[in-house]
Amino acid sequence: MSILIRGGTVVTADNTFRADVYTEDGVIKAVGEDLDAPAGAEVVDAGGCYVMPGGIDPHTHMELPFMGTVASEDFFTGTTAGMAGGTTMIIDFVIPNPQEKLMDAYNKWRGWSEKAAGDYSFHVAVTWWDDSVHADMKTLTEEHGVNSFKHFMAYKGAIMADDEILVNSFTRARELGAICTVHAENGELVFRLQQDMLERGITGPEGHPQSRPPEVEGEAANRAIRIAQVMDVPLYVVHTSCKDALDAIIRARNEGQRVFGEALAGHLLIDDSVYRHPDFEFAAAHVMSPPFRPKGHQEALWLGLQAGHLQTTATDHCCFCAPQKAAGIDNFSLIPNGTGGVEDRMHVLWTHGVGTGRLTMNEFVAVTSTNAAKIFNIYPRKGSISVGADADVVVWDPEKSRTISAETHHQNIDFNIFEGMTVKGVNTVTISQGNIVYQEGDVRTEKGAGRYIDRPCFAPYYSAMEKQRALHAPTSVSRVQAAE
Ligand code: URP
Ligand code: ZN
Ligand code: ZN
Repeated sequence: MSILIRGGTVVTADNTFRADVYTEDGVIKAVGEDLDAPAGAEVVDAGGCYVMPGGIDPHTHMELPFMGTVASEDFFTGTTAGMAGGTTMIIDFVIPNPQEKLMDAYNKWRGWSEKAAGDYSFHVAVTWWDDSVHADMKTLTEEHGVNSFKHFMAYKGAIMADDEILVNSFTRARELGAICTVHAENGELVFRLQQDMLERGITGPEGHPQSRPPEVEGEAANRAIRIAQVMDVPLYVVHTSCKDALDAIIRARNEGQRVFGEALAGHLLIDDSVYRHPDFEFAAAHVMSPPFRPKGHQEALWLGLQAGHLQTTATDHCCFCAPQKAAGIDNFSLIPNGTGGVEDRMHVLWTHGVGTGRLTMNEFVAVTSTNAAKIFNIYPRKGSISVGADADVVVWDPEKSRTISAETHHQNIDFNIFEGMTVKGVNTVTISQGNIVYQEGDVRTEKGAGRYIDRPCFAPYYSAMEKQRALHAPTSVSRVQAAE
């Protein structure tokens, strides 16, 4: 299939210019003014619209088995919802149970994800440690295009990685040229605070944020950052929700450490008052970790994005419907943690970012697509409008509005955390692999059309780091080696 996107303004992370975009066989073949439509090409009129790289959501959990249930959104419905909202690629997570071989878990997730309609990739979580994990990390990086390993510092008694696991895994990732990622919350503190709450008779959803205060996240973020510093491995902090964790990231970046931070659309816009709502279903629908934060933290995250201290935006899309959330009706710590948003992230970020002047259009592209592609080493195949890039493109009408609702969204969840929000600036067309998968409300995704995207490791970057380290090393021998 070939498509000529005609008459739009191309917006990339670093440029804005009038150009047509021609795609053929799944890739961008030409970008320029007044391109001719070859015979048979479908013409998409982008007059008055922006033409941007499809969004990349680097943090989703489709059909995740978690807290005694399974996330309601599967790889087909989830990638479809994403593409309806302009997101053409997700990076999801393989999460082995403790004692489960990484390769077994990876193969299981690859089976589930075969139904994806859009492109996807996997971070792989390290939830335990033995020689097989050490070996499988190498297999994953060398044979399966995995360049990022995830560590949950929370969820004690389940998938939590303690410091010993972090040190082992960070060391191994460093050897392999992979990046480490962390869910930064001190799981011991969360566990203790949950017990304290329950003993005091606080069993409702309001106990969720009280047992996971910002200090708990700040401590874990700082600890992971320091371990990464000592082990000399780049670190990506997922769902940075509060000033405490952001400050740890800023300090490390100011000292030259390669630390990256992700903000969730939800954390940017929703505060912790949702947990005090009298209706259990409403409050429980917002239970996710880290929780939504007291007012003030949202603005800090926006400033972090503006300043470039935070580089990416994601959703942590992990859907549980009301009957699943009801598992915690008598005990908040049993409410499955997770909320949706993969369909809404781009609209919400545009409306509250570009629409308010907090972000430029180019910054919007950077934080919704390009930066994730760069950090996870799939740029410029993804995250760019350039010849040779994958034809994952959105046509964006800045004047068009819609109101977000669970009644109309494509996500397989009975609730929407952005319910009732009117967004201005929406995708009218989404193109994935050179095919129109969404146009003006018409969803045309195909089960199984999504491809697994390999993400190679960072060997050249590491050898540059070796040189730099040797230059600063105390012995004359290493200085000589560095100069060679
Ligand atoms: O509450 C959340 N975030 N659920 C998904 C798992 C995780 O922690 O990312
Ligand atoms: Zn998490
Ligand atoms: Zn997550």
